[in-house]
Amino acid sequence: MKKLYIETYGCQMNVNDTEVVFSILAGAGYERTEDMHEADVIMANTCSVRDGAEQRILGRIEQFHACRKDRPGLVVGILGCMAERLKDRLLDSGKVDVVAGPDAYRNLPALLAAVSEGHPQMDVELSREETYGDIRPLRIDKNGVSAFISIMRGCNNVCSYCVVPYTRGAERSRDHRSIVREACECLEMGYKEVTLLGQNVDSYRDGEVSFADLLDMVAALDPALRVRFSTSHPKDISDRLIAVMAARPNICRHIHLPVQSGSDRLLEKMRRGYTREWYLGRVRAIRSAMPDCAITTDVIAGFCSETEEDHRLTLSLFEEVGFDAAFMFQYSERPGTLAARRYPDDVPPEVKNRRLEEIIALQNRLSLESNRRDVGKRFEVLVEGPSKKGSGQLCGRNAQNKMCVWDDSVHRPGEYVTVQVTDCSLATLFCELV
Ligand code: SAH
Ligand code: SF4
Ligand code: F3S
Repeated sequence: MKKLYIETYGCQMNVNDTEVVFSILAGAGYERTEDMHEADVIMANTCSVRDGAEQRILGRIEQFHACRKDRPGLVVGILGCMAERLKDRLLDSGKVDVVAGPDAYRNLPALLAAVSEGHPQMDVELSREETYGDIRPLRIDKNGVSAFISIMRGCNNVCSYCVVPYTRGAERSRDHRSIVREACECLEMGYKEVTLLGQNVDSYRDGEVSFADLLDMVAALDPALRVRFSTSHPKDISDRLIAVMAARPNICRHIHLPVQSGSDRLLEKMRRGYTREWYLGRVRAIRSAMPDCAITTDVIAGFCSETEEDHRLTLSLFEEVGFDAAFMFQYSERPGTLAARRYPDDVPPEVKNRRLEEIIALQNRLSLESNRRDVGKRFEVLVEGPSKKGSGQLCGRNAQNKMCVWDDSVHRPGEYVTVQVTDCSLATLFCELV
């Protein structure tokens, strides 16, 4: 067996893709190692979503290349979105032996075999059909409690700032039977939580089966299986989906609903396909069906032509919704996107930075307020493992996806416990067992 080390960047779908790659290469005689210093093959599964992500990975490639000094036969591979975006530019650097895009992973055994004869290899062909639906991912998560299941690939939305449709290709949904089968296998292996993944899960469709139907089928497998999903697109999240969630207590009370901006003018320019009023209407629909449902979001500060007034609209939307948590970014121009071709990246870096800081400061207050409202409440929590601080504490998330920690020397990962919140910080609920 040869030893394969993979470092994963970017979204949860990339984490699941890495598991698919381990599975494909296990069949070709490669076993997984977590120590890059003993690896025969080092790979990075990469992300292109912002320039910062790419720069970090380019720095990592230098370090991988440096490892060749001690290990002459070492093979370095780049997978994922950067492989797709930069293509042969990665090979030209002379530091990379294999470049494989997100739809080319079945070809990796052949690419690696050819590399061993001394020729760099590349496959960045995108597909209209590939979903890896028949491949059983080799799960890399350590606690054996929570598994990712990709239900679709690609994206058809073409938001003007976003590189994903270019790196991942057209949207395609995976056969629903293979998804249900994979969820059953996860249950048999002892997993207690599955997260259904797609760039826009609400546009999932396999014949007659919509995302709401699929979610219902997976949740019906076992009431003790927690079901999560990500990401919902505000323009597509349906009343039926909300109703299915409300009717199934084992579908977690958490919706990640990226808003990107609070200004209609910018939402239009971003090509998001909804308005601020529509977004707020979806939030009301979710909360009236499930008052305890957490809502989290993504936002971009400093998109092309953003004014102080646009920025204030984003802040006021945050205040109005009171998000439980958010991922907050500065706009990063991506070559080839509609925004890069059409609109100048004209918000100065210091202004982007200041606006981002203002959003972060506001969200920190909202997160803390959200957590404070939970003090005194009881939650069922799925035990994930020892807390980061260790010392006799366990951690796990509640249905709202909030991290809970409590003193416990009895329970094991994968068990459900009931805890009561006694205190909180920005990011954690401090609890005791009841
Ligand atoms: N499919 C998901 C988002 C995937 S990318 C959705 O539509 O919601 C994750 C997040 O990265 C996005 O929600 C957006 O907030 C951010 N992002 C994407 N492109 C970006 C860019 N060019 N600059 C800054 N942030 C970006
Ligand atoms: Fe990017 Fe928009 Fe597709 Fe999300 S929905 S991946 S932001 S193009
Ligand atoms: Fe990044 Fe590609 Fe995911 S660009 S966010 S790894 S789809």
